[in-house]
Amino acid sequence: MSTPSPLPQTGVAGAAPAAGAQAAVVLETRKLCLSFGALKVTRDVDFQLRAGERHALIGSNGAGKSTLVNLLAGVLQPHSGDILLDGERINKLAPFQRVRRGLVRTFQITALFGEMTPLDSVALAVCQANGAGLSFVGASPAHARAVDEAAEILRTVGLLEHARDETRFMAYGHQRLLEIALALACKPRVLLLDEPAAGVPMGESRRLLQTLAELPGDLTILLIEHDMKLVFQFASRISVLAEGALLAQGTPNEIANDERVRQSYLGHSHA
Ligand SMILES: Nc1ncnc2c1ncn2[C@@H]1O[C@H](COP(=O)(O)OP(=O)(O)OP(=O)(O)O)[C@@H](O)[C@H]1O
Ligand SMILES: [Mg+2]
Repeated sequence: MSTPSPLPQTGVAGAAPAAGAQAAVVLETRKLCLSFGALKVTRDVDFQLRAGERHALIGSNGAGKSTLVNLLAGVLQPHSGDILLDGERINKLAPFQRVRRGLVRTFQITALFGEMTPLDSVALAVCQANGAGLSFVGASPAHARAVDEAAEILRTVGLLEHARDETRFMAYGHQRLLEIALALACKPRVLLLDEPAAGVPMGESRRLLQTLAELPGDLTILLIEHDMKLVFQFASRISVLAEGALLAQGTPNEIANDERVRQSYLGHSHA
């Protein structure tokens, strides 16, 4: 394998804000609403994601977290309200168009090519993201560059030593890291992660979240996670959904001390 090239630039404008200044809002929803029949699953959600944030989205089962991510990613269409990326309304953009603009998501349930190696899967995704299509045959320079880039991405998520394993035989925690690697191959500016640690044993999930926290600081991350210990270690800001509505948004400290959140979700025992 040749020397890997640097990790692709994620390039959020104005990544780390000056002390005291607030980073720019990258992704925003205004009065976002969606119902499934009579069930209102997204209720007037005004949500803001700022550049470089490590933002956790929490709430009980069925609170509407995955639905909100599906709306942001364009998998679902809102019945009313707006979604803005860099201040521009993107309601009408298809999921792949949002990915091209740097808005990339992973799913709550794993979906990988089991018989491929992580290196091949990620290189394929890099080829696609670089506009080289899926013509992944032969020893072209584009192919060599994609393999180098893939290796660097796998290094970033701590999977380089498993680069040539067969995916289906990898530990589940490693498979979930591979999903994150595939998302990184799309050169995201904003990464939406729907329970990336679901089903992963505790020690591994802590490492997985640590890997996420250490991704380049200009990458904005929205994470759905149920384990409050992991959430409070990871997040610089937290949003709480309850029955489709945004109950609170704030720093971990503000959320931990928010009486409504404590009563409805965290419970009185949360320190
Ligand atoms: N396609 C659908 N059709 C009808 N109802 C749906 C659909 N998708 C989700 N729902 C319902 O919408 C509500 C919100 O679901 P959602 O999956 O967004 O919750 P969640 O917060 O992600 O929950 P969990 O923590 O269990 O993943 C739930 O009551 C769910 O049953
Ligand atoms: Mg969900």
